[in-house]
Amino acid sequence: MYKLMTQQLRHFSRTTPRQITPTAAAWTTKQSSEQKIYVSKALEGWDEKLRSNGVGDIDFNLKCIVAKVLQRKFNTLKTYHDVQFNQDQLQEFERLCEARCARMPLQHIVGEWDFMDITLKTSPTVFIPRPETEEFVSKVINIYRNYKEPLDMLEVGCGSGAMSLAILHALPNIKSTAVERSKAATALAWENAKMLNLQDRFVVYNHTTAENDYLPKELEGRKFDLIISNPPYVKSEEFPLLQPEVKLYENLNALDGGPDGLRIARLVFDCACIHLKPGGKMWLELGNDHPPLVQTIIDLQYEGRLRFISGYEDQYKRNRFVEIEKV
Ligand SMILES: C[S@@+](CC[C@H](N)C(=O)[O-])C[C@H]1O[C@@H](n2cnc3c(N)ncnc32)[C@H](O)[C@@H]1O
Repeated sequence: MYKLMTQQLRHFSRTTPRQITPTAAAWTTKQSSEQKIYVSKALEGWDEKLRSNGVGDIDFNLKCIVAKVLQRKFNTLKTYHDVQFNQDQLQEFERLCEARCARMPLQHIVGEWDFMDITLKTSPTVFIPRPETEEFVSKVINIYRNYKEPLDMLEVGCGSGAMSLAILHALPNIKSTAVERSKAATALAWENAKMLNLQDRFVVYNHTTAENDYLPKELEGRKFDLIISNPPYVKSEEFPLLQPEVKLYENLNALDGGPDGLRIARLVFDCACIHLKPGGKMWLELGNDHPPLVQTIIDLQYEGRLRFISGYEDQYKRNRFVEIEKV
C-alpha cells in the first residue's frame, strides 16, 4: 500500500520558513456545510508549501495523505479526477499536510506501512522499519528458506515487529521470541502479530537487555537456533546530521548506539554467548563502517565463543550486515 521512498528517511535537508498560502479550508468556509471540494482544488499550494519545508517526493506524499483521508488504498487512487472531500475530510487533509510540513514522518501520518510482503501498523513513538532492513531480512529468509526442521529464533529490539513478522510470514517452520525495551513497541509488535495472524509463532517480552540481564527470567536456560537484531547503532557524533523526521520524531532509545554505535550490539554478542546453540548464527544490521570493527571485536574479545563469518553490503554498497557464528 504505502512504500517508503528511501530518500525520505535518508536525505537530510534544512527546514526553511513556511510560506503562508491561502488554504482551501478558508476558501470553503463561506460554503454550506455539505459543500464538497474537488481534491485537485484542495491540493493547490501544498506542493509548494511542502517543498519549502524540505519535504521530497511531493506527489507521493500528497497521494498517501489523500488516500489516508479518503480511507482508500493508495493503489486504488489512480487519479484525482472527480474525487472530492467533504468539509471534515478537507480539514483532516490540511491538518495532515501541516504535520508533514513540520516533518512528521509520512509513516506516522498514515498509520501503517508496507514492509516486504506484510503491512504493519505504525505508532508515533515506535521505530519505523527502513528499506535497508527489508534487504537484511530477505538475506536471512533466503539463507533459511531450505531448512525444513523447526527453528527457534530470538530477536533483540523488535520495534514494530517488522523483522520477526516478515520472517515468520515467509518461513512457516520458524518461531520467534522477541525482547523490546519500549512498552509502546512491545504492544505494537504484539498487535501487528495478531493482525497478521502470526501470534501462535511469536512472543514478545517487554525487557531491556542489559549486562548480565540479557533476557527475561522466563527465558533463562533457553538456547536459540538463530539470533537477529537491528540494534540502535547511530554514533553519538552522527546525531546532528540526522534529518528532522528522525531527530524530532524517532525515539532516541531506538537510535542511540553510544560513542562507537555498538553499545547495544555488544550486549547482543554477550547474549549470543549464552543463548545461541553451538553452530547457530547471529545476524545483525549495523551502521556503515561497523563490520570491520565488529570483526576485530569478535576476534579479540570473543575468541573461542563466537566466530565472525562475514560482512555484507546493502544496495548502496555500504558494508552493513554481519553474520557471526556461535562456536
Ligand atoms: C533500530 S530499532 C529496530 C527496530 C526493528 N527491529 C526494526 O528493524 O524496525 C532498535 C529497537 O531496539 C530497541 N532497544 C534499544 N535498546 C534495547 C535494549 N537494551 N533491550 C531491548 N530493546 C532495545 C528499541 O526500543 C528499538 O525498538
